Amino acid sequence: MTATEGFRAPTTADGRELEGRVAVVTGGASGMGLATTYALARRGATVMVLDLADPGRTALASMLGVEEDRVRSVAVDVTDADRLQSAFASLLKERSRLDILVNAAGIAPPTPFEDITADEWNRVLAVNVHGTFLCCQLALPAMRSRRWGRIVNFSSTAGKTISTAGGAHYTTAKHGVLGLTRHLAKAYGPDGVTVNAVCPGLIDTPMARSVLPDGTLEQAASTFPIPRVGEPWEVAELVAFLACDRAAYITGAAIDINGGDLIA
Ligand SMILES: NC(=O)c1ccc[n+]([C@@H]2O[C@H](COP(=O)([O-])OP(=O)(O)OC[C@H]3O[C@@H](n4cnc5c(N)ncnc54)[C@H](O)[C@@H]3O)[C@@H](O)[C@H]2O)c1
Repeated sequence: MTATEGFRAPTTADGRELEGRVAVVTGGASGMGLATTYALARRGATVMVLDLADPGRTALASMLGVEEDRVRSVAVDVTDADRLQSAFASLLKERSRLDILVNAAGIAPPTPFEDITADEWNRVLAVNVHGTFLCCQLALPAMRSRRWGRIVNFSSTAGKTISTAGGAHYTTAKHGVLGLTRHLAKAYGPDGVTVNAVCPGLIDTPMARSVLPDGTLEQAASTFPIPRVGEPWEVAELVAFLACDRAAYITGAAIDINGGDLIA
């Protein structure tokens, strides 16, 4: 056999490869979550946004340039187990399936360690880690029953080293997200569910602008090998790839997307 005779092309790479898939994106009303909602919907997925802010289905569809039946939006705090449960139950009742879960909701207060109160510590862990845990637990049964699922969790450069802008609670939370990701990847890979994390560096979102205002974001990024701030859509393209059939052999990964920030 020659080298080229053994080549097998991927089955789907036509731009509409999420047609028929149903996705949930937490934190999908802003920044990288919103960009991910766009990237999934444009590939054909129906997306339910779960966020404190509810942009509304009509506004969301028009902003994303997709048909209204491709999106749904529910105001929910990802730490509220009961509200989450009813949002997932109603989506499953309407669509009878859930294929993709993206956990992008997060907060990153830049409080110095000595000033972090117990309440703030718990809130940061609750939104970033507990919310991710709750959504994974609600999504997994539907994915396992169809033997196909994709979970993408938002960690951060802070999950690999320490946060440059957020506090110690944020660093702790994003390390926790990586632990949860690896644990679930090992447990549910045999059921056809992949679980991965993305670890963005400095990305131009309302969160980053609030923590690093007035040119400090650009200044911090200027020392990177790619000396600029990242765009939300650049991260969303990675998330969308991880959600596709083509990424079936990637699980338990924590993928850097940071302009080369962590190169030693
Ligand atoms: N921007 C960056 O530079 C950067 C870098 C690394 C990781 N991250 C992570 O990426 C993810 C997305 O962040 P972003 O920069 O797009 O931020 P963003 O602030 O633009 O968006 C975050 C969204 O999460 C929602 N949210 C916050 N708390 C919530 C809660 N309790 N329940 C439901 N929704 C809630 C917000 O309403 C908002 O719409 C976060 O997990 C963040 O920690 C961001």
